Amino acid sequence: MTHTPYPPPPEPSTAPEGGTTHPPAPEAPAGPAAPVGPEAPGADAALRATLAGVRAEVGKAVVGQDAAVTGLVIALLCRGHVLLEGVPGVAKTLLVRSLSAALDLGTKRVQFTPDLMPGDVTGSLVYDARTAEFSFREGPVFTNLLLADEINRTPPKTQASLLEAMEERQVSVDGVPRPLPDPFVVVATQNPVEYEGTYPLPEAQLDRFLLKLVLPLPERADEVEVLARHARGFDPRDLHAAGLRPVAGPDALARARAEVARVEIAREVLGYVVDLCRATRESPSLSLGVSPRGATALLATSRAWAWLSGRAFVTPDDVQALVHPTLRHRVQLRAEAELEGVGAESVLDTVLAAVPVPR
Ligand SMILES: Nc1ncnc2c1ncn2[C@@H]1O[C@H](COP(=O)(O)OP(=O)(O)O)[C@@H](O)[C@H]1O
Ligand SMILES: [Mg+2]
Repeated sequence: MTHTPYPPPPEPSTAPEGGTTHPPAPEAPAGPAAPVGPEAPGADAALRATLAGVRAEVGKAVVGQDAAVTGLVIALLCRGHVLLEGVPGVAKTLLVRSLSAALDLGTKRVQFTPDLMPGDVTGSLVYDARTAEFSFREGPVFTNLLLADEINRTPPKTQASLLEAMEERQVSVDGVPRPLPDPFVVVATQNPVEYEGTYPLPEAQLDRFLLKLVLPLPERADEVEVLARHARGFDPRDLHAAGLRPVAGPDALARARAEVARVEIAREVLGYVVDLCRATRESPSLSLGVSPRGATALLATSRAWAWLSGRAFVTPDDVQALVHPTLRHRVQLRAEAELEGVGAESVLDTVLAAVPVPR
């Protein structure tokens, strides 16, 4: 049985929330102007609709996979990196390419191959014969949204160069630190690690991914729809022809992030996040539980989800919805548990069932 990913958010209403707008009176007295622009009531709902538009845009190419699409939007809101896992052919690459097409952001793609060198990712010094000097040529990490495709097909040294850039948000070559653009979000795809010819990501560095999203095989109806689109001439190499257009840019993302930062979380719910993470550290099936960094990640993703769902506060349900994608890659199973067929997902389900929910 596969566990259920969190549900896609409800369609946002276009009605302004939190009060009505007052049309400016003809002879308004001098004083503070009526709220207009980003702070106006309803701006929040409009922003949320913009981000829902990103999901709809991606849907022009990718059938289903709603939980993954929502997860990617949550990561953008948190400026966090994503690991996208699934067997070959479930549209991992298509999903991230579609997300890039739906966003007005700088985006690059690197296909990780066994012979890729660290400098191919971060950039390197090149000699200019004309000036007789070395200059830095930026690698593909100098972008806003980097698709790191099939990251586990490359050896550890090249993986490490990307993981360092992700953590430090800068690249140091020849002792000179060079900051990466803001936002800088990596979406790395990987085949399940059991696949041959893969170099699994170091456990200690998995913590650098905010979310790990798992793309399941499609439901039958979705698969039929994939074929129907192909039969109508859909070409996954030409997303523009499929109608995908940029619908949100850096401005919308920055404003949405500011809104997410205003979402409130009660101390009891903070306690709930902490208790869930602490419970993983006591699980007999795990040799490594969730770190405090993992706990802060769960706080961040729950908050973004609460905002996307149209709420100004985080509920325990929001936290529960994000436990699997936020924590599944931050725990390490004991060998005995693995032999018994216990997986990270079932351990997290046990933790969710055991920890009392605040009310
Ligand atoms: N959910 C889906 N929606 C739309 N197309 C799909 C879907 N799943 C598979 N496909 C089709 O299969 C192709 C393989 O996708 P790709 O992104 O290369 O897979 P992966 O990166 O997971 O190996 C896509 O280009 C598309 O034609
Ligand atoms: Mg692929």
